[in-house]
Amino acid sequence: MHNFIKFETQSTAEKLIETALQFKENPFLQKELGKDLRIGLIFLNPSLRTRASTQIAAKNLGMEAIVFNIDKEGWALEFEEGVIMNENKAEHIKEAAAVLGGYFDVLAIRAFPTLIDKKQDMADKVIHQFIKYSHKPVVSLESSSRHPLQSLADMMSIEETWKQDKKPKVVLSWAPHVKALPHAVPNSFAEWALGLEHELVITQPKGYELGEQFTKGAEIEYDQEKAVADADFVYIKNWSSYHDYGKLPEVEGNWLLQDHQLKESAKIMHCLPVRRNLELADELLDGSKSLVQLQANNRIYAAQAVLFEIISNMK
Ligand code: CP
Repeated sequence: MHNFIKFETQSTAEKLIETALQFKENPFLQKELGKDLRIGLIFLNPSLRTRASTQIAAKNLGMEAIVFNIDKEGWALEFEEGVIMNENKAEHIKEAAAVLGGYFDVLAIRAFPTLIDKKQDMADKVIHQFIKYSHKPVVSLESSSRHPLQSLADMMSIEETWKQDKKPKVVLSWAPHVKALPHAVPNSFAEWALGLEHELVITQPKGYELGEQFTKGAEIEYDQEKAVADADFVYIKNWSSYHDYGKLPEVEGNWLLQDHQLKESAKIMHCLPVRRNLELADELLDGSKSLVQLQANNRIYAAQAVLFEIISNMK
């Protein structure tokens, strides 16, 4: 593995989950592997879990991790080719990425979508420019279109929790929110769940359908109550409209899930941060069905498995 920016193959994903579970058992199994290697964690957007878990993962492998909030502490970056830079952007991505590639052995980037320019967002322009100009392995810390480290931790959490031979029924459910949110988490979750051959049902109000490039093979059910009734795992997440890009079409009915709608053995998942009693009710977040802390904890070992594969390839 060189870059980690999306789901690649089922066998790669299964190997990463196995490695992540091994690191969870013994975090310091490879504590010398990354000695003398440095990772730059470049954030264009806020983060709690991704920032801390990736730093811990790097440290567990003996790597040095340096966090750079480039949106606040760096020069304003220009991403367009061939422009006359006579406005407010002081540095071009060509120089910035090349310089950072010279400082670090691995780069990890968080770059959210504009939610305005769909074509640019879906092309993951920012992360691909870092790949092009840094000449170093790049890990996505959440791009415009995907959040693969989150999805790897989510799939690991399902694997760890599900003790039966048959595949679980997994439901991805839209939830209410007050803001227009990106599609990266649900896109990625669908991509990984389908790639790992889980039975996936997606439930959302009309107007909130995700891009078919991510959901092909999933069952779409507009009735949330029906979708979740026999679910083993329900992944709660808000997203804005994909087809009317970044907009918030009017929603009919109450999409805040209730405990009584789920079977007793069902598990609830959310990537966090979560808005309590807007996206997910207290009774579910604080109850025994919730896997949210397990997912957050597994972010460390998911990142560690990815860094392990990347730096093993470099040696
Ligand atoms: N789930 C997740 O990526 O959390 P942060 O945005 O806090 O990193």
